[in-house]
Amino acid sequence: MLADKSIIVTGAGSGIGRATAMVLARAGAKVVAASHSAAHARETADMITAAGGVAKPFSADVMRESDVVAMVDFTLECFGRLDGAFNNAGITLHDRLVQDMDEAEWDQVMGVNLKGVYFCMKHETLAMGKTGGGAIVNNSSVNGLVGVPSASGYVASKHGVIGLTRGAACDAAATRVRVNAVLPGMIRTPMIAELVATPEFKAQYDVILARHSVGRIGEPEDVGYAVKWLLSDEASFINGAAICVDGGYSAR
Ligand SMILES: NC(=O)c1ccc[n+]([C@@H]2O[C@H](COP(=O)([O-])OP(=O)(O)OC[C@H]3O[C@@H](n4cnc5c(N)ncnc54)[C@H](O)[C@@H]3O)[C@@H](O)[C@H]2O)c1
Repeated sequence: MLADKSIIVTGAGSGIGRATAMVLARAGAKVVAASHSAAHARETADMITAAGGVAKPFSADVMRESDVVAMVDFTLECFGRLDGAFNNAGITLHDRLVQDMDEAEWDQVMGVNLKGVYFCMKHETLAMGKTGGGAIVNNSSVNGLVGVPSASGYVASKHGVIGLTRGAACDAAATRVRVNAVLPGMIRTPMIAELVATPEFKAQYDVILARHSVGRIGEPEDVGYAVKWLLSDEASFINGAAICVDGGYSAR
């Protein structure tokens, strides 16, 4: 589905990003696996190469515009063009009532989850424009549609990703870049393992699990398969969509 397409995945060092990078590579994409951990980026690239795919690791902090520029330049050097991107890097901020959240925490969660996506979209769109366009998928969350207790900063950042996606999608005729968002429900990743380890979140876990009407939480590949399709030419009429990959969580 993605033969020879050159695709960046941010946050590719673990969880949804790593699994999606592997799904995209299996579909024929040449992948830049970016992470702010150089070691984790290399691990992912090595896993893809060992499975017969094509991948290059790159270390970038998406909160730093210069890192994002370097990531895109690196992709052009490696593969000559940029066709697609999955802007996935993100952090969580739970166990914070709005009155308990300090400015540094707000800046951090908005900086990675929203400003990071803006930096990536800006420079990816510029690069894609040089070769006739492309497709971008941003990773929001079901918390981009609805709230969850004690996580208003995270929830705000994920609502923002949907707004950014829809706004940029309106410019597709000018940019030649389709922009969509995926909205995962609860996915089995290190981020969730970290949350479940906190007593406050553990109490919510069974309630959240029960809202996934397919009867299970998601696996990282569940998101990867949706991203693969959105980045492929089969989705060429899909633009500005916010697609739930949530086992029915948001259907209730
Ligand atoms: N796991 C879930 O249930 C779930 C649900 C909805 C949305 N999401 C979103 O999916 C994305 C991936 O999360 P995950 O669950 O795979 O967690 P994860 O912690 O395994 O992955 C997050 C990745 O982002 C990277 N990252 C963090 N800060 C960064 C920065 N400043 N620059 C570059 N990379 C950075 C981390 O190194 C890590 O590889 C996040 O945006 C998260 O909000 C996750």
